Amino acid sequence: NKTIVITGVSSGIGADVAKFARMQGARVIGMDRNPASLSLDGFVQLDLGDPQAIETALQQLPTKIDALCNIAGVPGTAEADLVGRVNYLGLRHLTQSLLPRFNQGASIVNVASILGAEWPKRIEEHKALAQTNSFQTGSDWLAKHPVEQETCYQYFKEALIVWTSQQAFSWLRDYGVRMNCVAPGPVMTPILGDFVSMLGEERVQADADRMLRPAYSDEVADVITFLCSDQARWICGANIPIDGGLASTYI
Ligand code: NAI
Repeated sequence: NKTIVITGVSSGIGADVAKFARMQGARVIGMDRNPASLSLDGFVQLDLGDPQAIETALQQLPTKIDALCNIAGVPGTAEADLVGRVNYLGLRHLTQSLLPRFNQGASIVNVASILGAEWPKRIEEHKALAQTNSFQTGSDWLAKHPVEQETCYQYFKEALIVWTSQQAFSWLRDYGVRMNCVAPGPVMTPILGDFVSMLGEERVQADADRMLRPAYSDEVADVITFLCSDQARWICGANIPIDGGLASTYI
């Protein structure tokens, strides 16, 4: 049976991925800053924005892993520094630290967003950030290249998409692990209210209208579960939109 590590397991999309994985017989180890109410095979409570907490958590994680789902995230209503630490630097630190533990054919799925669709506009910056390669050097780089509060959520989702595509090939070659992103449009989870505060009701409604309604969290979880499976073995370095075609309207 597969062993799957899931961040953001206590709510929304992460909780549904955990449910589906357990239904398929996987051993699920969850991570979140909030306690989990669903039943899991293991749970580590931590703040993913804190690299020391990640180091401690690593001791409680399995030594052999088949999938890592990086789902935890904070909205842009949080401070830009926190958004960067949780949605990018912490995610990256956890993923890099787990690399030696992945079994051949393992899968990493990062949850980006439709709001990261404009990554080509800042490609050089995102490539430079991707090269920093550790939590500390990433923090130092960001201190010299401050990110605007208004667009910090977008910025770090863009950075995640670019980092994923930059990193995927060498990790496939060196560790036999595939890494991909999914980029959902609006999903009916607690964070959606924050997107309304960030972007306005009209924008969120218009984005949701592409598919006639917002997604339910299980509809995103289904795609993540597929990407973790061996059926997705030829998908690597991709950013899979789950958005009613919205991303292509940015081009
Ligand atoms: P949610 O709010 O239901 O779940 C987010 C989870 O992340 C929560 O359990 C929360 O406790 C956890 N988390 C937040 N900060 C953390 C930290 N510092 N350390 C550990 N855990 C932390 O929201 P949802 O929708 O399930 O979000 C999952 C991912 O999907 C996020 O990365 C979000 O940015 C992304 N997303 C969500 C969309 C939506 O409309 N709901 C659209 C596009 C992307």
